[in-house]
Amino acid sequence: MRTHYCGKLTTKDQDEQVVLCGWVHRRRDHGGLIFIDLRDVSGLVQLVFDPGRSGGAHRTGHSLRPEDVIEINGAVVRRSPETVNPDLPTGDVEVNVTAVTILNRAETPPFSIDEPEEVDEVLRLKYRYLDLRRREMLDNLLLRHQVKRRVRRFLDGHEFVEVETPVLTKSTPEGARDFLVPARLKQKKFYALPQSPQLFKQLLMIAGLDRYYQFAHAFRDEDLRADRQPEHTQIDMEMSFMSVAEMMDLIEELLADLFGSVLGAGLNCPFARLTYDEALLKYGSDKPDLRFDLPITEISSVFAGTKFAVFARALENGGAIRALRVPGGAAFSRRQVDELTDFAISSGARGLAYLYVHGGGKVTSPIAKFLSIEESERVLDETGSREGDLILFVADQVLVVALVLGALRSRLARELKLAGEGWSFLWVTGFPMFKLDEETGDIAAEHHPFTLPTEDTLDYIDKEPLKVRGSLFDLVLNGVEIASGGLRIHQAGLQRKVLSVLGHESHKMESDFGFLLDALRYGAPPHGGLAFGLDRLVMLMAGLATIRDVIAFPKTQSGGCPLTGAPAGIDPGQLKELGLKQ
Ligand code: AMO
Ligand code: AMP
Repeated sequence: MRTHYCGKLTTKDQDEQVVLCGWVHRRRDHGGLIFIDLRDVSGLVQLVFDPGRSGGAHRTGHSLRPEDVIEINGAVVRRSPETVNPDLPTGDVEVNVTAVTILNRAETPPFSIDEPEEVDEVLRLKYRYLDLRRREMLDNLLLRHQVKRRVRRFLDGHEFVEVETPVLTKSTPEGARDFLVPARLKQKKFYALPQSPQLFKQLLMIAGLDRYYQFAHAFRDEDLRADRQPEHTQIDMEMSFMSVAEMMDLIEELLADLFGSVLGAGLNCPFARLTYDEALLKYGSDKPDLRFDLPITEISSVFAGTKFAVFARALENGGAIRALRVPGGAAFSRRQVDELTDFAISSGARGLAYLYVHGGGKVTSPIAKFLSIEESERVLDETGSREGDLILFVADQVLVVALVLGALRSRLARELKLAGEGWSFLWVTGFPMFKLDEETGDIAAEHHPFTLPTEDTLDYIDKEPLKVRGSLFDLVLNGVEIASGGLRIHQAGLQRKVLSVLGHESHKMESDFGFLLDALRYGAPPHGGLAFGLDRLVMLMAGLATIRDVIAFPKTQSGGCPLTGAPAGIDPGQLKELGLKQ
């Protein structure tokens, strides 16, 4: 229908007769002349309706409203210097309209496409097709497309084969609840939607595929957050005969190619690395944001002979005392410090001790009376504190101390705007293989039950399984876990052992994982892989705070879709057919 895209017109098209199609973005009536910004996927161009040139077109132009869909004929002209719009890529030209056809009228939209304003997100999701007309939203989808295209190109160039895996399948444990689909043809039986294609990609390696990838949908019924949706997309990969180091090199190469081509950004390779233990000790998180340093200091030894009962008790119970130095924090008001205390308590601490550092080595603190001069000097020394700083202390079990100070570290960095621009990639390795579920006392897999234990910790598996480490790695970007993976077990005996540590009785093991255990007996190659959270990756590349903004049709925090009304009730006939009761 058209000869050109609106957003692509330049002075090179001067004097061209063009046909354009698009939406009325904005209209300005200047008495005689009417100016309309016409919008299509490529951008905007200014149309001029002049009653002297075409009375009919001018009359129609007068009746146009935002979001009407039109087709126009006209001539591209260069704008006079004083009317050039430097903010618009097409701002050097405009189109003198000679004919206009209204292809469709639009009702007044529930929010303006034109002006950035705070619109309630539920309303945006209900009218997502209008929300996606907004330039920044469209750009997010285009960025996502570019990322997928570039990743696909890279993987194609490295012998990866794209394979689709089933969506109606059997549950693979990835730590979340399953979404279930009742099976009509097998009454009282259910498919599970995959939490990831984990077992299928392993089976593809056993099938001899060598390198697999897929943009896979993963479904998890878990509590939602800004970076969590009930269905998300993974760049899912699996490889045979590769070491962890080789996989990491390949992924760094992929990301350098992606960030270079899509964002024009150079990455510092090799990426930083920390073990899980180091990350928790120094930053209180297994996904620390290293755009700022703000380390945590272990100072238990300073308080070996402390008179402060809270600290003494923590040490007696095998816990720790650690400190976070807040540069310039001595300027915080009492109220600010009280807020930090409330935050620490809501993050799991029993309290928050603090110390203001003044000039000349002078300190003030609610716990000053319990501190010897030597203790406070050592604290200043070991935390590297200077005049004007505030030091925060937490005493408790080691993990509580780490996580509370880690949460304080993130919060303070946000408030003090410590994170600079840039891309801070970090590999975290050396994760435990298992973790203890505090509530049930059960042992659970840290990643998933198919992870290969490291050779040097495998011997603990019978007596002290919590000491076993997995051949695992996470990739963190600016404090967000963007990918996770590792090596897999490729021997049936070891897989049985790990499943039994996780509490699977042998008959249950057969019914749940018999197909995997069988496959492992027919010559499974050593293999491993990883999955990127595509939504999170694109969110970070776009500089956004929620993955909902890079998903065309996301769900709300409560898992609903305001556009379609999903999840919805179904009629009794359908239920009956499935053998389900109301
Ligand atoms: P994992 O469970 O760590 O690993 O998931 C891989 C990556 O997917 C992203 N992610 C999510 N993104 C949005 N919403 C969610 N609910 C969500 N859950 C996870 C994260 C995460 O790093 N099969 C394994 C991978 C493997 O071992 O190969 C897996 O699924 O960025
Ligand atoms: P209390 O003697 O209980 O009044 O505590 C004195 C100070 O120590 C207060 O500022 C408390 O918030 C703080 N505090 C209490 N428990 C802890 C803890 N487990 N770790 C760090 N500080 C604490």
